Amino acid sequence: MKRLNEDIIRENINSSLPSFALHDEIVIHILDSIDSTNRFLKNQKPSSVISICCAETQTNGQGRMGRSWHSPYGENIYFSIRIPVEESDVHHLTGLSLVASLAVIDTLRTFDLHRQLSIKWPNDILWEHKKLSGCLIELIKAPSEVIIGIGINVNSKTFNNPLPDKEWCSLFDITNQSHDRNPIIGKLTVNLIQHLNQLIKEGFSSFTRQWQKVDNLKGKPISLIKPSGIITGVSQGIDQSGCLIIIDETGKTHVISSGDATLKAQ
Ligand code: BTN
Repeated sequence: MKRLNEDIIRENINSSLPSFALHDEIVIHILDSIDSTNRFLKNQKPSSVISICCAETQTNGQGRMGRSWHSPYGENIYFSIRIPVEESDVHHLTGLSLVASLAVIDTLRTFDLHRQLSIKWPNDILWEHKKLSGCLIELIKAPSEVIIGIGINVNSKTFNNPLPDKEWCSLFDITNQSHDRNPIIGKLTVNLIQHLNQLIKEGFSSFTRQWQKVDNLKGKPISLIKPSGIITGVSQGIDQSGCLIIIDETGKTHVISSGDATLKAQ
């Protein structure tokens, strides 16, 4: 097992985007064990610089919808980034969870898997219908900051750790070899910052073509659970702000934002 290493992560950040080295110091926290890397960053004092946190294991890794995130020691990426955002830009963050997943897919491009990767709206990254990565986004107010937490299954062997609730996979399963997590974390850091900047400057519509190439649900029958009940219909893809469009069995169109509904297991 190659341990997490700040120097290698920093080298990869700097080589992907040298201007960071010159202008912006990124604070890097490498931890052996923590309850959750998202929670660790949330507990830091407000700051005007970007910080990231990675851990060898999480004892209480958080998934979306109150689920937990399996975090075996030294095997995978448990990563969070905290980025300050101008108050006036907060309303540009609609679609951030979709954009964060696109940044993960771009990061995995080096493995030549990206053609086989897809995203199940809003942000489950799948390889052949098995979950490879997930994102958990949290917003902090006054001063405004975002925390983007990413789990990527890198070196776990799924036959050793079958998960009861869903099919999942790792880079090891796909490529049949182990991978150094440090360069992946460096590139992921840069991609997330660049994608967030693009979202703020150009809006979500600048990502819609990229999304369409990896949309796992378009044209498929799906069910969504909303507080008001279950909607069953066919996914029509997303609109210009990242909302899911569904036409239900009666022909009615529903536009769903990612915070409003959960996909029902198919
Ligand atoms: C999901 O698909 O449910 C989201 C999973 C997010 C998991 C990551 S692991 C690093 C970061 N810290 C956490 O506690 N959760 C996120």
